[in-house]
Amino acid sequence: MSEPVFTFRLATPDDAEVLQAIYAPYVETTVTFEYVAPTVEEFRQRIIDRVSVYPYIVCEEDGVPVGYAYASRLYERAAYAWAVELSVYFAPNHRGRGMGRKIYDKMLSLLKLQGVRTVHGKVTFPNPASDKLHNAMGFKLMATLENVGFKNGEWRSINHWEKQIGDFSCAPEPITPITELDPAKVQEILNA
Ligand SMILES: CC(C)(COP(=O)(O)OP(=O)(O)OC[C@H]1O[C@@H](n2cnc3c(N)ncnc32)[C@H](O)[C@@H]1OP(=O)(O)O)[C@@H](O)C(=O)NCCC(=O)NCCS
Repeated sequence: MSEPVFTFRLATPDDAEVLQAIYAPYVETTVTFEYVAPTVEEFRQRIIDRVSVYPYIVCEEDGVPVGYAYASRLYERAAYAWAVELSVYFAPNHRGRGMGRKIYDKMLSLLKLQGVRTVHGKVTFPNPASDKLHNAMGFKLMATLENVGFKNGEWRSINHWEKQIGDFSCAPEPITPITELDPAKVQEILNA
């Protein structure tokens, strides 16, 4: 049997069904703080709301989506415009194969190109795979927010990870939306 081929591309609203199917089972767990899984239509709208500004990357194995990662703004207020939060989900039998690291690597390169300065990850405790992913990618554990959520009958804490990816010596230009980056450069990062 030949080795599987993993590829990465930007998401489109047409990915809603397959990505919702990857995400929905995790809503039963404490990995996400959502109580009710979004419908495919809600998921489609979430994709539409994100893809015009931030990277939304799909990982495919032999042409079939097996995981995804996206960035969203960390907080709404104006001064936070250079800070994003990441979300990442792989289907259960595609975890632990190095793809989390790969998708994060591409994500960080794209965000850097956009002019984003800090990248954040919020990881429910315990989630050793996600904590290890953030640690391995050079994120720093900034805080544990204790009992910040209630899910599946218990109070839950989260680890807040941060990675600085930009220059802090001067005032920033507005970030460049993903749709306005050089498409050849974006493709080069996705193919790397
Ligand atoms: C978290 C997740 C995205 C990580 O991606 P992944 O492809 O499984 O991780 P990788 O194979 O790239 O491994 C990344 C690091 O985590 C470690 N790791 C992976 N799975 C692990 C596990 N189950 N337990 C402990 N460490 C683990 C790897 O050894 C690696 O560390 P290293 O490079 O220092 O050896 C993936 O496991 C996943 O989708 N989990 C379910 C959803 C989820 O928890 N999302 C994150 C919400 S914050």
